[in-house]
Amino acid sequence: MAQIAPSILSANFVNLQADIRAMEEAGARMIHVDVMDGHFVPNITIGIPVLRALRANTSLTLDVHLMISNPDQMAESFAEAGADLLTVHYEASNHLDRLLHMIRDRGVKPGIALNPHTPVFLLEEILPICNHVLIMSVNPGFGGQKFISTSFGKVRKLNDLIRSRGLDVQIEIDGGIGPGNTGQAVESGVDIVVAGSAIFDAPRPRDVFREMQKIAEETGELKHNDALHL
Ligand code: DX5
Ligand code: ZN
Repeated sequence: MAQIAPSILSANFVNLQADIRAMEEAGARMIHVDVMDGHFVPNITIGIPVLRALRANTSLTLDVHLMISNPDQMAESFAEAGADLLTVHYEASNHLDRLLHMIRDRGVKPGIALNPHTPVFLLEEILPICNHVLIMSVNPGFGGQKFISTSFGKVRKLNDLIRSRGLDVQIEIDGGIGPGNTGQAVESGVDIVVAGSAIFDAPRPRDVFREMQKIAEETGELKHNDALHL
């Protein structure tokens, strides 16, 4: 069943714990953690010490999105700091096969993120090792950007590729998603919907999370029923 992963990039960094508790209370199962290095993307956010602190303070699944150059060198430290899912960018790694195996060997679920300009077909060989693929629906670096409208088409292509290979790979979408387009995301095949500013910039983040989770579940059920009747 599709789920919403609140992105703490838009949370209150002076009191992360309060925002995480709010999401736990609202029923979240996963938190999305954006790591940026000021090199792969034009912003710097959080790193290993903060990930460790998060791990020590919540049992929610930690979905760590590495927007860093040279993940081949750094990913192991993030795996050991407490990531449950660890996503590296296709554009940043020279040895994805080795890297994804290393992540999996550490007991962490490996995934690949694609920037908006990177086509889905490039994943053909590496897909069987992926737990998930993250489709960036904005150019990575900042929260609160406008959704790139062609992204759902990309999700559909990825979904077709996964199905044609008979694989079990989850699809994640990240950037510019809120209550208004969550239904379309799930309809096009998304399993994990990341949302930052739509949730944490709202006056009542819990309510927005619950609204999005409800839309995701209802759309998922409709899809399931439609598939049964075909
Ligand atoms: C952007 C990050 C996203 C970001 C999404 O580079 O990868 O996870 O938090 O923020 P919104 O939901 O505000 O577009
Ligand atoms: Zn992200």
